[in-house]
This record gives sequence, C-alpha cells and structure tokens, in this order.
Amino acid sequence: MKKVKIPLIIYLLAALSITGIVVFWKSSRNKDKPVYADRSRASASVSTDANKNDSDNYTYIPPTYEYDNNNEYNEEGQMPDTTREIDLDPNSITVFVNQEHSLPKDFVPENLVIPAIPFDIISYSERKLLRLEAAQAIEKLFSAALKEGYSLYGISGYRSYDRQKEIFLDNIVKKGKEHTLKYSAAPGTSEHQTGLAMDVSSKSVNFKLVPEFAKTAEGKWLAKHAHEYGFIIRYPKDHYEITGYAYEPWHIRYVGEDLANYLYTNKLTLEEYYNYKPSDGFDYEKKYADLINYKPTPTPTPTPKPTPSPTPTPTPTPTPTPTPTPTPTPIPEDEIDVEDPSRELDNEDLENNHEEILDNENMDPVFYNNDMNMDINQELSNTNSIE
Ligand code: DAL
Ligand code: ZN
Repeated sequence: MKKVKIPLIIYLLAALSITGIVVFWKSSRNKDKPVYADRSRASASVSTDANKNDSDNYTYIPPTYEYDNNNEYNEEGQMPDTTREIDLDPNSITVFVNQEHSLPKDFVPENLVIPAIPFDIISYSERKLLRLEAAQAIEKLFSAALKEGYSLYGISGYRSYDRQKEIFLDNIVKKGKEHTLKYSAAPGTSEHQTGLAMDVSSKSVNFKLVPEFAKTAEGKWLAKHAHEYGFIIRYPKDHYEITGYAYEPWHIRYVGEDLANYLYTNKLTLEEYYNYKPSDGFDYEKKYADLINYKPTPTPTPTPKPTPSPTPTPTPTPTPTPTPTPTPTPIPEDEIDVEDPSRELDNEDLENNHEEILDNENMDPVFYNNDMNMDINQELSNTNSIE
C-alpha cells in the first residue's frame, strides 16, 4: 500500500504545479491587453485641430463618472442617471448657468476680448466682448460660414450683471412679464455674463434677434455647424420646459468642441447633460419677484409733495431699482433677447451704414477691424431700440 501511495502523491504535486504555471502564464499575457484600451480609444477620438475634419464620424466619449449604486445599463439600454456633478465654476467653459444656478453679481470673466468678426455696429461696445477661448472659436466659426457664403454677425456677447438688469427691466416694462420670462434672463442668471455666449444674426433678418433667423440660410448653417467649433444652440426649439426659455436660434454658447459635439450628437441640452432638476422649493418668479413685477414710477410730475419742508429738488428716489425715469433708457435693439416679429424696422440706417462701411473699407468682413472705424453711428444704434 505504502509503495503505491508515494508515487501518487508525487504525481498529484506535479500536476498541481503544472496547472499553476499555466494559469500564471495566461494571466501574464492578459497584461499585454491593457485594461485602459477603451479609454485610449476615447482619448484618441477627442477632437483636435488635426482630426477636426473627421467631425462627421466624431464620437465624444464623456469622461467616466460614478453612477448611482451600480454601473449597469437599464432595460432600455440607456445609461442610468448619472451623478455627473454640475459645473458651477464661473470660470469654467462648461459652467452651467440657468434660472437657479446664478453667477455672483460681481463676476466678470478674465480675458475678455473683441473677436475679429463683423458686428452690427462699428464702434466699441462692451457687448462685442467674449472670453478669449470663445472669441477664437467664433472667429473660426464665422470664417467657415463665410467660406461657404454665409455672412454671420455678432450682435450681443458679454453683458455685465448691471447691464443684464437694465435689459431685463426694459423688457419687463416694454414687453411685459410673459414675454420677458420666455426670452430674457434675470441678472445673474444670464449666460452672457460668462462671456461665453453670443447672440448672432444676419443681414437677411436685418440683424435682428428673431425666431425667423432659424429659417434663414445663415441660421440653418449655424445650427448645423456651430458644434464643430465648440458652440451649442443653447435654447433649442420646444425645450421650454427643460431650459426655461423659448427657442432662441440666435443664442450660441461656447462649451468647447468635445462637449458641443457630444451634446449635438446626442441632442442634449446642458440641463439634460447635467441631469438638472430644480431644487425642492426653488421658485424663480418668487426669487426675482421684485424685478419681474417692476413697475416704473408713472410720470415724475413736478407737483410738489405737501411736505412740511419742501425741498428744491422734488425728485426723490422711491425705489432701489434703476433710475425709474419716465422713458427708460433705451436698450439697443440688438441686445434684446427677442424681437417682436410684427414690428417694423424703425430705421434702416443701421443696416445701410453697416454695408457702406464694409464696402468702403473693402475688407473681408470676418477680418474687418472694428477698431479702425470711428463711432459714427453709435447714437443711432442706441436709439434704434425697442427692448
Ligand atoms: N436670452 C437669454 C435667456 C439671456 O437673456 O441670457
Ligand atoms: Zn443671448
């Protein structure tokens, strides 16, 4: 018996050793196939200048994020709701700004510059400004449009908090609450304050910000190609319930090429991308009730108040809101969020002047230097305004 057992044990030990060697060898070979193979491919597919022309085949693979509880696909094959953190850094190009997530009142982006694109006015204006990254991108966008025969114009880019407040109140006074809430952001809640948004128009709609822009050749080209240069149409058609705003085919927002391509390909708004849901109890109209219900003081009649000590200056400042003058400061039409489609153009001089100067300078409009021309029509553009 003993003579039989000893070789059997040796045999078993040898078999176990061989199995161990085989398993180890196989696992070593797997290391040649990196776990990060997919990630490598994702990285390679991220757009660069070199591969930008491949945009038709471009698929942005978003960075990996943590998921709720598990990492499984649901029954419909959709990715589960992500816990993607909403980007609230005002300096980030992917910052999320909406009615709830507002910007600090004193936030002013660094590196604001005037892009070398045509505008509806000649002279310097703060609204020509964009953040450097967005400015460089819009130059490429407009240049590409022009090469294909489409002339786009910048209308309104950066707006300070105070400027947005003026515009919002002007809209409330002149257009009413319903219209304003559809098209205009309360101060602090406008993407224009980030320096990453530009309202764009074309001569075919008299440089106005109107829904009809979407039907123009320029508007169609913009909708089709903006993402290739890092912009999205921020407030798409029929997304009022999601974005909080009506269709604004003129408002483009820079988010960078990767995210713009991803949102375009997947037909997502920023709200959907960030899986934004209003916080419990958040009430936009309540929060901005003072502004939304703003009523300018009727007419500052010179009738002196029956005060015991009449003052020589009978113009007290009744409210903390901006100068409630009888005729509110005209907001340039081009800073308005939407034009009343039924409105007739008050003055065609703006357009004529614009054409004349471009012709006179005989310049490629895209590289037309706005600073080379003196302000000859600033007043006109400022008074040719409704919102
Ligand atoms: N028109 C957009 C909503 C804004 O005012 O920022
Ligand atoms: Zn806008």
